[in-house]
Amino acid sequence: MSSVAILGATGTIGSVLARRLVRQGQHVLLVGRNEEKLRSLSEELGQPFVAVDLTSSQPLEEALRAMADAQGGFHALVNCIGSILLKPTHTTTDDEFRQVVETNLFTAFATVRVGAKLLRERGGVIVLFASSAAEIGIQNHEAIAAAKAGVIGLARSAAATYASNNIRVNVVSPGLIRTEMTRRIWENATNATASAQLHALGRLGEPEQVASLASWLLDGENDWITGQIIGIDGGLGHVLPRR
Ligand SMILES: NC(=O)c1ccc[n+]([C@@H]2O[C@H](COP(=O)([O-])OP(=O)(O)OC[C@H]3O[C@@H](n4cnc5c(N)ncnc54)[C@H](OP(=O)(O)O)[C@@H]3O)[C@@H](O)[C@H]2O)c1
Repeated sequence: MSSVAILGATGTIGSVLARRLVRQGQHVLLVGRNEEKLRSLSEELGQPFVAVDLTSSQPLEEALRAMADAQGGFHALVNCIGSILLKPTHTTTDDEFRQVVETNLFTAFATVRVGAKLLRERGGVIVLFASSAAEIGIQNHEAIAAAKAGVIGLARSAAATYASNNIRVNVVSPGLIRTEMTRRIWENATNATASAQLHALGRLGEPEQVASLASWLLDGENDWITGQIIGIDGGLGHVLPRR
């Protein structure tokens, strides 16, 4: 049986997705940067892990190729890596901007680059993560909006390039989800209420809901979907909240 490689498997959504896929009987390769966290998740799930420097795509390719035989190959790659930076442009430093782009856009590029090489012969699925912030202007989100808009462009073009190889490329685009990344926002009651009110449905999202969408996109039953940006955002990306 082939496997799903999850990049950023130690993050909130990455680990919830890994648990969900394992419950479904799928094989998962846990990929990340922190060996200690990876080992702990690996022991919990009984799935292998690989710690990789994700600042260039070569180590990722080498690691996945080395694992491919043991895993029966891969049929999917999911990039759950991401970060957040809430600042207006004029106070964002060059290094901060580069870091946001590296974490959010470069890792998506590396996922597609390596995924395209590994999946070209047999086809497969790539799932990337954007953000509602890339689809609607939200104050102080310039760096993350720019990086995630890059992910959307990358995914649409790659979907076109690799459709003839039967590789589907889709994007999950969340609103504000209760994860480690956003803890400082939702742990504060005032901020949580203000953030919930930006979403037409008036509440924040949960990691399980996002993992459910990602696993649905990975399911072979849904194999006529490519180049799509699917919001899971309580309406944030496209629906005005009631005033
Ligand atoms: N939560 C939200 O409200 C929200 C909204 C929109 C989009 N998203 C997107 O959803 C995806 C999952 O995010 P999450 O909410 O689950 O966040 P999370 O819990 O903070 O997980 C983020 C993951 O990214 C990894 N990571 C961060 N910087 C990295 C770097 N420079 N190199 C390699 N790995 C790095 C982290 O590794 P460690 O475990 O080693 O720290 C972790 O595995 C991300 O793409 C995020 O941008 C989330």
